[in-house]
Amino acid sequence: MKIEKFISVKDAIKKGKDKVAVRGWVYRERKSNKFIFLVIRDASEIIQCVIKKDKVPKELWAAAEKILIETSVKLTGSIKADKRAPTGYEVEVSDLEIVHYAEDFPMGKDQSYEYLLDMRHLWLRSRKLTAVLKIRSTVFGAIHEYFRKLGYYEFHSPIIIPGGAEEGPTLFEIKYFDRQMYLTQTWQLYAEAAIFALEKIYTIAPSFRAEKSKTSRHLTEYWHAEVEVAWLNLKEIIDLAEGLVKHVVKKVLEKNKEELKILDRDVKKLLPATKKKFPRATYTEILNLLKEKKGFDVEWGKDLRTVEEEKVMELFDTPVFVTHYPKEAMAFYKPRDPKDPKTALCFDLLAPEGNGELIGGSERDTDLKELETSLKKLGEKLEDYHYYLDTRKYGSVPHSGFGMGVERLVKWICGLDNIKDAIPFPRTMTRTNP
Ligand code: 4AD
Ligand code: MG
Repeated sequence: MKIEKFISVKDAIKKGKDKVAVRGWVYRERKSNKFIFLVIRDASEIIQCVIKKDKVPKELWAAAEKILIETSVKLTGSIKADKRAPTGYEVEVSDLEIVHYAEDFPMGKDQSYEYLLDMRHLWLRSRKLTAVLKIRSTVFGAIHEYFRKLGYYEFHSPIIIPGGAEEGPTLFEIKYFDRQMYLTQTWQLYAEAAIFALEKIYTIAPSFRAEKSKTSRHLTEYWHAEVEVAWLNLKEIIDLAEGLVKHVVKKVLEKNKEELKILDRDVKKLLPATKKKFPRATYTEILNLLKEKKGFDVEWGKDLRTVEEEKVMELFDTPVFVTHYPKEAMAFYKPRDPKDPKTALCFDLLAPEGNGELIGGSERDTDLKELETSLKKLGEKLEDYHYYLDTRKYGSVPHSGFGMGVERLVKWICGLDNIKDAIPFPRTMTRTNP
Protein backbone atom coordinates (compact mmCIF):
# COMPACT_ATOMS: atom_id res chain seq x y z
CA MET A 1 0.00 0.00 0.00
CA LYS A 2 1.46 3.35 -1.08
CA ILE A 3 0.76 5.87 1.57
CA GLU A 4 1.97 9.32 2.48
CA LYS A 5 2.59 10.26 6.10
CA PHE A 6 -0.05 9.09 8.55
CA ILE A 7 -1.73 11.80 10.54
CA SER A 8 -4.09 11.58 13.48
CA VAL A 9 -7.81 11.52 12.80
CA LYS A 10 -8.09 14.86 14.56
CA ASP A 11 -5.48 16.40 12.25
CA ALA A 12 -7.19 14.85 9.24
CA ILE A 13 -10.42 16.57 10.27
CA LYS A 14 -8.53 19.82 10.81
CA LYS A 15 -7.16 19.51 7.28
CA GLY A 16 -10.69 18.87 6.03
CA LYS A 17 -9.88 18.43 2.35
CA ASP A 18 -7.63 16.56 -0.10
CA LYS A 19 -5.88 13.28 0.50
CA VAL A 20 -5.26 11.98 4.03
CA ALA A 21 -3.78 8.79 5.47
CA VAL A 22 -4.94 7.58 8.87
CA ARG A 23 -4.64 4.41 10.91
CA GLY A 24 -6.62 3.05 13.78
CA TRP A 25 -9.41 0.70 14.75
CA VAL A 26 -12.85 0.11 13.32
CA TYR A 27 -15.25 1.61 15.82
CA ARG A 28 -18.41 0.91 13.84
CA GLU A 29 -19.14 -0.82 10.54
CA ARG A 30 -22.18 -0.96 8.31
CA LYS A 31 -22.26 -2.85 5.06
CA SER A 32 -24.60 -2.78 2.05
CA ASN A 33 -24.33 -3.99 -1.54
CA LYS A 34 -22.70 -0.83 -2.77
CA PHE A 35 -21.14 0.85 0.25
CA ILE A 36 -19.22 -0.12 3.33
CA PHE A 37 -19.20 2.52 6.06
CA LEU A 38 -16.43 2.29 8.62
CA VAL A 39 -16.08 4.63 11.57
CA ILE A 40 -12.38 4.64 12.39
CA ARG A 41 -11.10 5.67 15.77
CA ASP A 42 -7.62 6.48 16.93
CA ALA A 43 -6.51 8.04 20.19
CA SER A 44 -7.50 11.48 18.96
CA GLU A 45 -11.02 11.22 17.46
CA ILE A 46 -13.38 9.17 15.28
CA ILE A 47 -14.14 9.65 11.60
CA GLN A 48 -16.56 8.10 9.15
CA CYS A 49 -15.01 6.43 6.08
CA VAL A 50 -16.84 5.10 3.09
CA ILE A 51 -15.78 2.44 0.61
CA LYS A 52 -17.67 2.57 -2.69
CA LYS A 53 -17.79 -0.77 -4.47
CA ASP A 54 -17.62 0.66 -7.96
CA LYS A 55 -14.67 2.93 -7.10
CA VAL A 56 -12.21 0.49 -5.50
CA PRO A 57 -10.37 -2.63 -6.70
CA LYS A 58 -12.18 -5.95 -6.19
CA GLU A 59 -9.61 -7.17 -3.65
CA LEU A 60 -10.04 -4.07 -1.50
CA TRP A 61 -13.81 -4.55 -1.42
CA ALA A 62 -13.41 -8.24 -0.57
CA ALA A 63 -10.98 -7.44 2.25
CA ALA A 64 -13.31 -4.79 3.66
CA GLU A 65 -16.30 -7.10 3.60
CA LYS A 66 -14.64 -9.29 6.25
CA ILE A 67 -14.05 -6.42 8.66
CA LEU A 68 -15.52 -6.70 12.15
CA ILE A 69 -15.29 -3.95 14.71
CA GLU A 70 -11.90 -3.36 16.35
CA THR A 71 -10.09 -4.57 13.24
CA SER A 72 -6.94 -2.48 12.91
CA VAL A 73 -6.48 -0.74 9.57
CA LYS A 74 -4.45 1.79 7.63
CA LEU A 75 -6.24 3.76 4.95
CA THR A 76 -5.88 6.58 2.46
CA GLY A 77 -8.65 8.62 0.91
CA SER A 78 -9.98 12.05 0.27
CA ILE A 79 -11.65 13.86 3.13
CA LYS A 80 -14.53 16.30 2.88
CA ALA A 81 -17.14 17.84 5.11
CA ASP A 82 -20.32 15.79 5.52
CA LYS A 83 -22.99 16.95 7.95
CA ARG A 84 -24.40 13.43 8.36
CA ALA A 85 -21.12 11.94 9.58
CA PRO A 86 -20.62 11.67 13.36
CA THR A 87 -17.72 14.15 13.49
CA GLY A 88 -18.77 16.21 10.46
CA TYR A 89 -16.30 14.77 7.93
CA GLU A 90 -16.06 11.71 5.75
CA VAL A 91 -13.14 9.99 4.02
CA GLU A 92 -13.77 8.28 0.71
CA VAL A 93 -11.35 5.38 0.84
CA SER A 94 -9.05 4.74 -2.11
CA ASP A 95 -6.55 2.45 -0.46
CA LEU A 96 -6.93 0.13 2.53
CA GLU A 97 -4.61 -2.18 4.42
CA ILE A 98 -5.90 -4.57 7.05
CA VAL A 99 -3.33 -4.74 9.84
CA HIS A 100 -5.23 -7.32 11.86
CA TYR A 101 -8.70 -8.78 11.51
CA ALA A 102 -10.41 -8.64 14.91
CA GLU A 103 -12.41 -11.58 16.17
CA ASP A 104 -16.02 -10.97 17.13
CA PHE A 105 -15.60 -8.18 19.74
CA PRO A 106 -17.18 -9.18 23.05
CA MET A 107 -18.16 -5.65 24.08
CA GLY A 108 -21.48 -4.11 23.17
CA LYS A 109 -24.47 -2.32 24.57
CA ASP A 110 -26.40 -3.28 27.70
CA GLN A 111 -23.69 -5.26 29.42
CA SER A 112 -23.57 -5.41 33.19
CA TYR A 113 -21.12 -3.21 35.08
CA GLU A 114 -19.38 -6.29 36.48
CA TYR A 115 -18.91 -7.71 32.98
CA LEU A 116 -17.47 -4.39 31.82
CA LEU A 117 -15.05 -4.53 34.74
CA ASP A 118 -14.06 -8.12 33.90
CA MET A 119 -13.35 -6.93 30.38
CA ARG A 120 -11.69 -3.71 31.45
CA HIS A 121 -8.69 -4.29 29.16
CA LEU A 122 -11.05 -4.03 26.17
CA TRP A 123 -13.50 -1.56 27.70
CA LEU A 124 -10.62 0.94 27.96
CA ARG A 125 -11.11 1.50 24.22
CA SER A 126 -14.58 2.93 24.76
CA ARG A 127 -15.13 6.62 24.18
CA LYS A 128 -16.14 7.08 27.81
CA LEU A 129 -13.04 5.53 29.34
CA THR A 130 -10.75 7.08 26.76
CA ALA A 131 -12.18 10.47 27.72
CA VAL A 132 -11.67 9.77 31.43
CA LEU A 133 -8.09 8.65 30.83
CA LYS A 134 -7.31 11.84 28.94
CA ILE A 135 -8.74 13.95 31.75
CA ARG A 136 -6.82 11.87 34.29
CA SER A 137 -3.63 12.62 32.38
CA THR A 138 -4.39 16.36 32.48
CA VAL A 139 -5.04 16.12 36.23
CA PHE A 140 -1.69 14.45 36.95
CA GLY A 141 0.13 16.95 34.73
CA ALA A 142 -1.63 19.88 36.40
CA ILE A 143 -0.70 18.69 39.91
CA HIS A 144 2.98 18.47 38.96
CA GLU A 145 2.77 21.84 37.25
CA TYR A 146 1.15 23.54 40.25
CA PHE A 147 3.74 22.42 42.76
CA ARG A 148 6.75 22.83 40.51
CA LYS A 149 5.76 26.41 39.61
CA LEU A 150 5.66 27.16 43.33
CA GLY A 151 9.19 25.77 43.75
CA TYR A 152 8.31 22.43 45.35
CA TYR A 153 10.62 19.43 44.99
CA GLU A 154 9.24 16.04 44.05
CA PHE A 155 10.19 13.58 46.80
CA HIS A 156 9.68 9.81 47.06
CA SER A 157 9.08 7.60 50.06
CA PRO A 158 9.19 3.79 50.40
CA ILE A 159 6.06 1.78 49.60
CA ILE A 160 7.06 -1.05 51.97
CA ILE A 161 6.98 0.24 55.51
CA PRO A 162 7.39 -1.08 59.06
CA GLY A 163 4.28 0.63 60.56
CA GLY A 164 1.32 2.77 59.58
CA ALA A 165 0.24 6.35 59.98
CA GLU A 166 -3.53 6.24 59.42
CA GLU A 167 -6.08 3.83 60.93
CA GLY A 168 -4.50 0.42 61.71
CA PRO A 169 -7.30 -1.72 60.23
CA THR A 170 -6.67 -0.32 56.75
CA LEU A 171 -3.02 -1.48 56.65
CA PHE A 172 -2.19 -4.23 54.17
CA GLU A 173 0.20 -6.72 55.68
CA ILE A 174 2.83 -8.24 53.46
CA LYS A 175 5.14 -11.17 54.02
CA TYR A 176 8.64 -9.75 53.76
CA PHE A 177 11.17 -12.58 54.02
CA ASP A 178 10.74 -13.72 57.64
CA ARG A 179 9.09 -10.52 58.81
CA GLN A 180 5.77 -8.78 58.53
CA MET A 181 5.76 -5.44 56.78
CA TYR A 182 3.01 -3.21 55.40
CA LEU A 183 2.08 -1.35 52.24
CA THR A 184 2.12 2.38 52.73
CA GLN A 185 -1.09 4.36 53.34
CA THR A 186 0.68 7.68 52.99
CA TRP A 187 4.04 9.22 52.19
CA GLN A 188 3.65 11.61 55.04
CA LEU A 189 5.89 10.33 57.81
CA TYR A 190 8.92 10.09 55.52
CA ALA A 191 8.04 13.44 54.01
CA GLU A 192 8.12 14.95 57.48
CA ALA A 193 11.75 13.83 57.74
CA ALA A 194 12.59 15.24 54.31
CA ILE A 195 11.27 18.79 54.82
CA PHE A 196 14.30 19.38 57.00
CA ALA A 197 16.35 19.04 53.82
CA LEU A 198 14.01 20.41 51.14
CA GLU A 199 11.33 22.42 53.03
CA LYS A 200 8.69 22.26 50.25
CA ILE A 201 7.98 18.82 48.81
CA TYR A 202 5.22 16.91 47.04
CA THR A 203 4.58 13.57 45.45
CA ILE A 204 2.03 11.62 43.46
CA ALA A 205 2.34 7.96 44.33
CA PRO A 206 0.23 4.89 45.02
CA SER A 207 -1.21 4.49 48.52
CA PHE A 208 -2.87 1.36 49.81
CA ARG A 209 -5.86 0.93 52.11
CA ALA A 210 -7.33 -2.39 53.14
CA GLU A 211 -10.78 -0.80 52.97
CA LYS A 212 -13.54 -3.30 53.61
CA SER A 213 -16.06 -0.72 52.45
CA LYS A 214 -17.61 -1.31 49.05
CA THR A 215 -18.58 2.30 48.47
CA SER A 216 -18.39 4.15 45.19
CA ARG A 217 -15.43 6.15 46.49
CA HIS A 218 -13.05 3.59 48.01
CA LEU A 219 -10.22 1.80 46.26
CA THR A 220 -7.62 -0.40 47.93
CA GLU A 221 -4.91 1.05 45.69
CA TYR A 222 -5.16 4.70 44.76
CA TRP A 223 -2.91 7.53 43.63
CA HIS A 224 -2.18 9.94 46.38
CA ALA A 225 -1.01 13.51 45.74
CA GLU A 226 0.67 14.66 48.93
CA VAL A 227 2.48 17.74 50.05
CA GLU A 228 4.53 18.59 53.13
CA VAL A 229 5.86 22.05 53.94
CA ALA A 230 8.06 23.51 56.62
CA TRP A 231 6.85 26.61 58.48
CA LEU A 232 3.25 26.63 57.16
CA ASN A 233 0.31 26.81 59.55
CA LEU A 234 -3.23 25.52 59.10
CA LYS A 235 -4.55 28.55 57.23
CA GLU A 236 -1.59 28.59 54.86
CA ILE A 237 -1.81 24.89 54.05
CA ILE A 238 -5.54 25.29 53.36
CA ASP A 239 -4.78 28.13 50.94
CA LEU A 240 -2.28 25.86 49.18
CA ALA A 241 -4.90 23.11 48.86
CA GLU A 242 -7.49 25.50 47.48
CA GLY A 243 -5.02 26.76 44.90
CA LEU A 244 -4.25 23.20 43.84
CA VAL A 245 -7.87 22.19 43.28
CA LYS A 246 -8.66 25.40 41.44
CA HIS A 247 -5.63 25.00 39.19
CA VAL A 248 -6.47 21.40 38.29
CA VAL A 249 -10.13 22.10 37.56
CA LYS A 250 -9.22 25.11 35.41
CA LYS A 251 -6.68 23.08 33.44
CA VAL A 252 -9.24 20.36 32.71
CA LEU A 253 -11.87 22.90 31.66
CA GLU A 254 -9.31 24.46 29.35
CA LYS A 255 -7.78 21.30 27.84
CA ASN A 256 -10.56 18.72 27.91
CA LYS A 257 -13.71 20.40 26.60
CA GLU A 258 -14.33 17.57 24.14
CA GLU A 259 -13.81 14.84 26.71
CA LEU A 260 -16.17 16.52 29.19
CA LYS A 261 -18.74 16.65 26.40
CA ILE A 262 -18.30 12.94 25.60
CA LEU A 263 -18.89 12.28 29.32
CA ASP A 264 -21.96 14.48 29.23
CA ARG A 265 -20.53 16.41 32.17
CA ASP A 266 -22.46 19.52 33.09
CA VAL A 267 -19.47 21.89 33.27
CA LYS A 268 -21.62 24.60 34.83
CA LYS A 269 -21.33 22.55 38.02
CA LEU A 270 -17.54 22.87 37.95
CA LEU A 271 -17.36 26.59 37.27
CA PRO A 272 -18.10 27.86 40.82
CA ALA A 273 -15.01 25.97 42.04
CA THR A 274 -12.82 27.96 39.65
CA LYS A 275 -14.30 31.32 40.62
CA LYS A 276 -15.52 31.37 44.20
CA LYS A 277 -13.46 31.09 47.33
CA PHE A 278 -14.16 27.73 49.01
CA PRO A 279 -16.08 28.22 52.26
CA ARG A 280 -14.32 27.29 55.49
CA ALA A 281 -16.21 26.02 58.52
CA THR A 282 -15.26 24.22 61.69
CA TYR A 283 -16.50 20.73 62.43
CA THR A 284 -18.67 22.19 65.20
CA GLU A 285 -20.22 24.69 62.79
CA ILE A 286 -20.90 21.86 60.35
CA LEU A 287 -22.71 19.89 63.08
CA ASN A 288 -24.87 22.95 63.69
CA LEU A 289 -25.60 23.31 59.98
CA LEU A 290 -26.53 19.64 59.77
CA LYS A 291 -28.94 20.09 62.64
CA GLU A 292 -30.52 23.36 61.50
CA LYS A 293 -30.72 22.77 57.76
CA LYS A 294 -30.87 19.01 57.41
CA GLY A 295 -32.37 17.73 60.65
CA PHE A 296 -29.32 15.53 61.39
CA ASP A 297 -28.25 15.21 64.99
CA VAL A 298 -24.60 14.18 65.14
CA GLU A 299 -23.02 13.60 68.51
CA TRP A 300 -19.99 15.88 69.00
CA GLY A 301 -16.79 13.82 68.84
CA LYS A 302 -17.68 11.42 66.04
CA ASP A 303 -15.98 11.68 62.65
CA LEU A 304 -18.46 12.67 59.92
CA ARG A 305 -20.01 9.73 58.09
CA THR A 306 -20.58 9.59 54.35
CA VAL A 307 -24.29 10.43 54.61
CA GLU A 308 -23.56 13.41 56.81
CA GLU A 309 -20.89 14.69 54.43
CA GLU A 310 -23.28 14.32 51.53
CA LYS A 311 -26.16 16.02 53.33
CA VAL A 312 -24.14 19.03 54.33
CA MET A 313 -22.62 19.34 50.84
CA GLU A 314 -26.11 19.70 49.36
CA LEU A 315 -25.89 23.23 50.77
CA PHE A 316 -22.82 24.18 48.66
CA ASP A 317 -21.80 24.40 45.02
CA THR A 318 -18.04 24.46 45.62
CA PRO A 319 -15.78 22.26 47.73
CA VAL A 320 -15.82 23.19 51.41
CA PHE A 321 -13.03 23.11 53.99
CA VAL A 322 -14.06 21.58 57.31
CA THR A 323 -11.54 22.30 60.05
CA HIS A 324 -10.96 21.53 63.74
CA TYR A 325 -12.26 17.99 63.99
CA PRO A 326 -12.30 16.34 67.44
CA LYS A 327 -8.72 15.47 68.41
CA GLU A 328 -9.61 12.01 69.71
CA ALA A 329 -11.11 10.93 66.39
CA MET A 330 -8.01 12.00 64.42
CA ALA A 331 -4.72 10.39 63.37
CA PHE A 332 -1.97 10.63 66.02
CA TYR A 333 0.08 13.30 64.25
CA LYS A 334 -2.64 15.97 64.21
CA PRO A 335 -1.91 18.47 66.99
CA ARG A 336 -4.30 19.86 69.54
CA ASP A 337 -5.49 23.38 68.95
CA PRO A 338 -4.10 25.28 71.95
CA LYS A 339 -7.16 27.58 71.79
CA ASP A 340 -9.60 24.66 71.91
CA PRO A 341 -7.73 21.54 73.05
CA LYS A 342 -10.53 19.08 72.32
CA THR A 343 -10.09 19.84 68.61
CA ALA A 344 -7.13 19.32 66.27
CA LEU A 345 -5.48 21.75 63.84
CA CYS A 346 -6.63 19.82 60.81
CA PHE A 347 -8.95 19.98 57.82
CA ASP A 348 -10.79 17.93 55.26
CA LEU A 349 -11.86 19.28 51.90
CA LEU A 350 -15.30 17.95 50.97
CA ALA A 351 -16.38 17.90 47.34
CA PRO A 352 -19.86 18.79 46.10
CA GLU A 353 -22.31 16.50 44.24
CA GLY A 354 -21.98 13.60 46.67
CA ASN A 355 -18.27 13.08 46.15
CA GLY A 356 -17.18 13.25 49.78
CA GLU A 357 -13.68 13.84 51.08
CA LEU A 358 -11.14 14.96 48.48
CA ILE A 359 -8.33 16.01 50.77
CA GLY A 360 -7.24 15.42 54.34
CA GLY A 361 -4.54 17.52 55.95
CA SER A 362 -3.27 19.21 59.07
CA GLU A 363 -0.54 20.95 60.95
CA ARG A 364 1.77 18.32 62.42
CA ASP A 365 2.27 17.75 66.11
CA THR A 366 5.80 18.77 67.11
CA ASP A 367 5.41 17.80 70.78
CA LEU A 368 7.62 14.72 71.27
CA LYS A 369 5.96 13.62 74.52
CA GLU A 370 2.47 13.90 73.10
CA LEU A 371 3.49 11.91 69.97
CA GLU A 372 5.08 9.13 72.04
CA THR A 373 2.01 8.87 74.22
CA SER A 374 -0.35 8.73 71.21
CA LEU A 375 1.74 6.06 69.46
CA LYS A 376 1.93 3.90 72.59
CA LYS A 377 -1.82 4.24 73.02
CA LEU A 378 -2.19 2.84 69.50
CA GLY A 379 -0.03 -0.16 70.45
CA GLU A 380 2.80 0.91 68.15
CA LYS A 381 6.44 0.13 68.91
CA LEU A 382 8.32 3.40 69.29
CA GLU A 383 11.43 1.89 67.66
CA ASP A 384 9.49 1.55 64.40
CA TYR A 385 8.98 5.31 64.47
CA HIS A 386 12.48 6.32 65.60
CA TYR A 387 13.09 8.14 62.33
CA TYR A 388 9.87 10.08 62.81
CA LEU A 389 10.42 10.93 66.44
CA ASP A 390 13.98 12.09 65.65
CA THR A 391 12.52 14.84 63.50
CA ARG A 392 11.19 16.33 66.74
CA LYS A 393 14.63 16.25 68.37
CA TYR A 394 16.94 18.05 65.97
CA GLY A 395 15.76 21.49 64.99
CA SER A 396 12.05 20.72 64.95
CA VAL A 397 9.93 23.32 63.14
CA PRO A 398 6.20 23.87 62.70
CA HIS A 399 5.01 22.27 59.47
CA SER A 400 1.88 21.14 57.67
CA GLY A 401 0.76 18.94 54.82
CA PHE A 402 -2.12 17.22 53.12
CA GLY A 403 -3.05 14.30 50.90
CA MET A 404 -5.50 14.27 48.02
CA GLY A 405 -6.99 11.12 46.49
CA VAL A 406 -6.44 11.74 42.79
CA GLU A 407 -9.20 9.33 41.74
CA ARG A 408 -11.65 11.15 44.01
CA LEU A 409 -10.80 14.36 42.19
CA VAL A 410 -11.07 12.72 38.76
CA LYS A 411 -14.42 11.18 39.78
CA TRP A 412 -15.82 14.56 40.74
CA ILE A 413 -14.44 16.43 37.73
CA CYS A 414 -15.72 13.78 35.30
CA GLY A 415 -19.03 13.37 37.13
CA LEU A 416 -18.55 9.59 37.47
CA ASP A 417 -20.85 7.40 39.52
CA ASN A 418 -18.06 5.14 40.69
CA ILE A 419 -14.42 5.76 41.57
CA LYS A 420 -13.52 2.52 39.77
CA ASP A 421 -13.96 4.37 36.48
CA ALA A 422 -11.44 7.00 37.51
CA ILE A 423 -8.51 4.53 37.37
CA PRO A 424 -7.64 2.21 34.46
CA PHE A 425 -7.43 -1.08 36.37
CA PRO A 426 -9.21 -0.66 39.72
CA ARG A 427 -8.39 -2.58 42.85
CA THR A 428 -11.08 -2.99 45.49
CA MET A 429 -11.89 -5.60 48.10
CA THR A 430 -13.56 -7.77 45.48
CA ARG A 431 -11.95 -6.58 42.25
CA THR A 432 -8.38 -7.70 41.57
CA ASN A 433 -8.52 -8.74 37.91
CA PRO A 434 -7.60 -7.71 35.23
O1 4AD B 1 -7.43 11.48 54.87
P1 4AD B 1 -6.30 10.54 54.59
O2 4AD B 1 -6.34 9.21 55.22
O3 4AD B 1 -4.99 11.34 54.98
C1 4AD B 1 -3.71 10.87 54.89
O4 4AD B 1 -3.36 9.80 54.46
C2 4AD B 1 -2.69 11.89 55.27
N1 4AD B 1 -1.51 11.19 55.77
C3 4AD B 1 -2.39 12.74 54.08
C4 4AD B 1 -1.37 13.79 54.36
O5 4AD B 1 -1.63 14.66 55.17
N2 4AD B 1 -0.24 13.73 53.71
O6 4AD B 1 -6.17 10.35 53.01
C5 4AD B 1 -5.99 11.46 52.17
C6 4AD B 1 -6.90 11.38 50.99
C7 4AD B 1 -8.39 11.38 51.32
O7 4AD B 1 -8.85 12.68 51.54
C8 4AD B 1 -9.00 10.74 50.10
O8 4AD B 1 -9.14 11.68 49.06
C9 4AD B 1 -7.92 9.75 49.68
O9 4AD B 1 -6.72 10.14 50.30
N3 4AD B 1 -8.30 8.40 50.08
C10 4AD B 1 -8.77 7.45 49.27
N4 4AD B 1 -9.04 7.47 47.94
C11 4AD B 1 -9.52 6.34 47.39
N5 4AD B 1 -9.74 5.19 48.07
C12 4AD B 1 -9.48 5.14 49.40
N6 4AD B 1 -9.67 4.00 50.06
C13 4AD B 1 -8.97 6.29 50.05
N7 4AD B 1 -8.60 6.57 51.32
C14 4AD B 1 -8.19 7.86 51.32
MG1 MG C 1 -9.24 11.54 55.83
